Amino acid sequence: MASRSIFQLQVFLIFALATTAFSSVLSPYYYEKVCPKALPTIKRIVEAAVYKERRMGGSLLRLHFHDCFVQGCDASLLLDATSTIDSEKNARPNLNSTRGFEVIDQIKKEVDKICGRPVVSCADILAVAARDSVVALGGPSWKVQLGRRDSTTASRNLANDNLPSPIMDLPALIKNFKNQGLNEKDLVALSGGHTLGLSQCGLFKERIYNGTNIDSDFAKERRKTCPRTGGDTKFSPLDPTFARFDTAYFSNLIKKKGLLESDQALFSGGSTDELVKTYSYNPKAFSADFANSMIKMGNINVLTGKRGQIRSNCRKVESLEWLLSFLYFCVQLIYFICKCKKFESVKLFGNNVLLSKMLILFQNLEF
Ligand code: HEM
Repeated sequence: MASRSIFQLQVFLIFALATTAFSSVLSPYYYEKVCPKALPTIKRIVEAAVYKERRMGGSLLRLHFHDCFVQGCDASLLLDATSTIDSEKNARPNLNSTRGFEVIDQIKKEVDKICGRPVVSCADILAVAARDSVVALGGPSWKVQLGRRDSTTASRNLANDNLPSPIMDLPALIKNFKNQGLNEKDLVALSGGHTLGLSQCGLFKERIYNGTNIDSDFAKERRKTCPRTGGDTKFSPLDPTFARFDTAYFSNLIKKKGLLESDQALFSGGSTDELVKTYSYNPKAFSADFANSMIKMGNINVLTGKRGQIRSNCRKVESLEWLLSFLYFCVQLIYFICKCKKFESVKLFGNNVLLSKMLILFQNLEF
């Protein structure tokens, strides 16, 4: 009798959890009930990673951007190549460039452990890690909208097509952002992400040797670590204070000291000049607009409700394993209901691994 009540309670819990996991709107409080320790865990790991290497903050921020611009913020960027996945990691803008994947792996592992099961999506981890990175480097905070689910696909071609190139001019950049539902203000504010991190010489070489819209002393300085031939992978900071979130990126543009052509394009006599000027002397305006645009970017084509899945390894699509678990669950359930004596001794729900697999399964199932 007692075992029957426990069974009924467990079934109720499974369905209750499955229903909450199927919410189709994002909310900053999405994990508050289901795993209140998830967000503090992400923050702790991001802070440790940034403490170890300050550049990592910029790298993690960029991962979220490169995820959102390719089929939406769905962690498609994190999928490794397989016979069916054409990994975005191998697209031109990402190959030998995007980094921080190991930090995301570590976050995923520890969050799943503390939550007792894989309930936090990789897409949400990217969004929260981006925010925590910015905060760790002195930037603004914002409430991250949560409840994204992870894709089962990735697209190298789309990554090549959608991610902006460092040689784009202003009209091309505006168009690129418009394609994602982002406006000129978003473009300028989000480009302020280049207050953090580094760029490889090969990506700005043409500008420092042949550019016209560039301060000559700045070009000379950059040439010291970026030779005319070779040295393509040598790094330079995207702004002079590359490990601090500040407005130096914008004041630099006014002095024609933007590192990438696409940076300088924002201050080159076009429609975005005024906003660059404003941000250069008004850190509060920059911080507020940056936070708003990050939230807007984080909403691009998110998967919610029954769409997508929650991966247990951010690099891999969940697959047959869960189907087998489900079948196993069904078989056991049928026998349980039939009170088949032979299976009475099966500890149906005493096994936590099985229970957690079933919970994931219910979250991933398309009813
Ligand atoms: C506007 C169009 C953009 C272009 C053309 C662009 C291009 C680039 C390029 C070429 C690099 C250097 C990559 C390398 O050396 O391997 C870079 C680095 C970076 N980008 Fe962007 N980016 C853009 C927008 C953004 C946005 C919107 C963000 C974030 C909100 C961002 C954040 C970063 C960060 C933080 C780095 C440094 C990463 C590191 O040091 O690991 N970028 N970007």
